[in-house]
Amino acid sequence: MCLMLMTRLLYLIILFESNVISVEVYKGKSLGTLNSYHHQVGGEVFAVNEFTLLITDFTFDGSANDAFFWAGASSRPGPQGFILANEYGRTDVLKRYLGKELKLILPDNKKLTDINWFAIYDLSKNIAFGDVYVPEDFEPPVKQIIGDLTTKSHGVSSGPIEILDSKTIKIPMFSYNGAGKDTYFIVGNGPQPSAKGQKIPDESGYLDNLRTYLNETIILELVGDTTVFDINWLSVYDLKTKENYGWVLIPDEPNVPPSLQNVADKVENIMHCVQLHKKLQLSWQVFGPQITIRLAGQIEADNYMAFGFSGSEEAPQMLGSDIAITYIDGFRGHAIDYNITDKSPCVKVLGQYKGVCQDILVGGLDDNQVHTASRENGINIITYRRNLLSYDIGDKEFKTNALNSMIWAIGRMNHQKEPGIHDYFPRSVLKLDLDPKPPIDTCYPFTVNTEPLKRDVWEQPKIIDSNLRMMTATLGPSGGKKGFQGLTGMPSPGLAWYINGYMIPEIWLKRGITYVVYIYGGNNPHSSQYYHPFVITDEPNGGYDGMTDNAQKHTRILAGVQYTLRRQARPTSAGPLCLRERKGFDRRLDDNFLSFKEFNRSLDMRCEQGDPAILEFKPNSSWPDIVYYHSFVQNNMGWKLHIVDKYSTGRSSAAQIQFNCFLGILIYLIL
Ligand SMILES: *[C@@H]1O[C@H](CO)[C@@H](O)[C@H](O)[C@H]1NC(C)=O
Ligand SMILES: *[C@@H]1O[C@H](CO)[C@@H](O)[C@H](O)[C@H]1NC(C)=O
Ligand SMILES: *[C@@H]1O[C@H](CO)[C@@H](O)[C@H](O)[C@H]1NC(C)=O
Ligand SMILES: *[C@@H]1O[C@H](CO)[C@@H](O)[C@H](O)[C@H]1NC(C)=O
Repeated sequence: MCLMLMTRLLYLIILFESNVISVEVYKGKSLGTLNSYHHQVGGEVFAVNEFTLLITDFTFDGSANDAFFWAGASSRPGPQGFILANEYGRTDVLKRYLGKELKLILPDNKKLTDINWFAIYDLSKNIAFGDVYVPEDFEPPVKQIIGDLTTKSHGVSSGPIEILDSKTIKIPMFSYNGAGKDTYFIVGNGPQPSAKGQKIPDESGYLDNLRTYLNETIILELVGDTTVFDINWLSVYDLKTKENYGWVLIPDEPNVPPSLQNVADKVENIMHCVQLHKKLQLSWQVFGPQITIRLAGQIEADNYMAFGFSGSEEAPQMLGSDIAITYIDGFRGHAIDYNITDKSPCVKVLGQYKGVCQDILVGGLDDNQVHTASRENGINIITYRRNLLSYDIGDKEFKTNALNSMIWAIGRMNHQKEPGIHDYFPRSVLKLDLDPKPPIDTCYPFTVNTEPLKRDVWEQPKIIDSNLRMMTATLGPSGGKKGFQGLTGMPSPGLAWYINGYMIPEIWLKRGITYVVYIYGGNNPHSSQYYHPFVITDEPNGGYDGMTDNAQKHTRILAGVQYTLRRQARPTSAGPLCLRERKGFDRRLDDNFLSFKEFNRSLDMRCEQGDPAILEFKPNSSWPDIVYYHSFVQNNMGWKLHIVDKYSTGRSSAAQIQFNCFLGILIYLIL
């Protein structure tokens, strides 16, 4: 698993390097152009922050034997100084450069205010080939602390706001009562907030009416190529009532570091365009009886973008919705028509498909035609067409004379190319006028982090206990991107196994010992959502029942089934349903929980009457060293069992391996 994550890290880095900067961007505070004395030295030097220099368009002919980046505190360049590592972090002799942009960091936490000059310097000849001076009273860019939000109404308040860089604003201890109907973070120009300002996404990238906040620290990013130099104020503003609930003035030209975001080229519209989320754009055009739809998403390669009609006119509703799941598989784009009859991945329930299923599985037609599909710079663009009125009577009609109630989502496809649970989805329906006049365009260029963000996951729980004989298996939520998905690197259907109170622990079991599992997975086979016989197999994905015949042939089920005379596997152990759940809590905030313990405390347990199913098993020498516990019907709900011959010293080394792996999973994402 560690290896997999490392590959992914490399991939992301490659992705960042290929990103193009298309607009003139703020690079920091200029120290001026390099004075050029020898060897064609040239370029402009910027202070990025207290510790970092950026040289743009750097040129040096490389024909000197002992030249280095050199800096010092003396009055002018001379032998008293220190070397700065090059852009690769190495202190090699300088080679040839031709118009390159490079970032240099001062060593040993030295600050720009500690030096008087920076030079390209020959250490054996004691000559500066080029230099630039740091003025006496130079103030390098640093985060600027401006005041608190001025409270107007609706309980808006905050601690002192920080401008972290040219696109990033941190609001500590933010509170807002959530009572506004059409309220957003708005930035703009002029002496005070007005409806003319620009909506910016909330801390999770949503452009929805703001939720309630209670003393939370949030970080907002300005969109597209907007920077703090372009705006005069930030406000919590209700666009419906045109009321300013609380605001702060942004000082002129704050001396802040440049943003780490690169602004990508704007994706060209088909005709109309609506920014649905920081990472998702919808563009469309109606022409005759057809609609062309284009989704552009800043997502990972295995993600899908879903778009379609809500199951309800008033609220975003999955049940009864009619959506297209779009994704790119290699080079091929898909926009597959789905019918949603239950909030679970598609499973066969007593011979009938239920859940999030392709139309063609439930007797409908797939009538989306994919037009184009591409993935570049981490952005998927998929264009497809459909008739406004589909031939499939189960499909909903795109109305041109009334508002359409639409929903969208972003999530991950699983290894069987079926959508897993959605990670991003709206809080309210999108009331879409298909033919607005004048044409609408609220889309802006995507921004890409130039330095990968660190995002941690919850600690992987481990049960290493030589006295362990009994386990209890119940169900609960899979805990967002820090939970199942972050820990296993796999998509989640939304539910996961909880063993002895822990979500998907890795468990060390010993060959030759008989173990007993008390199972509460739900035993109503009519339920597509809550019917989960517990099984142990030799592959990491589970969901044996839905596998192709070929995949089934290659899967060994080690416990939890009996075979019929015709060699069909029948699950033996489901038991009544015991489910941890949360009433009235927004699942998108799961990522705010710092640990599983904290997450677990927010859950309530609901158990049906009845005795658990009991599964006994004894690992033997025919069992591989790593096997997995699963649901018989659904993918990706369980995790690893380590099968050992003895615990003894293996214990500490096993724990050590896990620890290293855990560091490995501090995965780096663009998100
Ligand atoms: C808000 O949270 C901070 C810590 O993040 C705490 O110090 C402060 O007391 C809290 N304020 C209120 C009003 O709860
Ligand atoms: C989805 O399937 C159900 C049951 O088969 C059917 O009643 C419904 O019309 C279908 N809806 C769509 C949008 O295809
Ligand atoms: C999670 O909460 C339940 C009570 O709801 C508790 O029994 C269990 O031990 C908790 N798990 C952990 C790991 O704290
Ligand atoms: C080993 O375990 C497997 C799976 O549980 C079982 O089918 C097999 O009979 C066992 N072998 C022995 C020798 O007990």
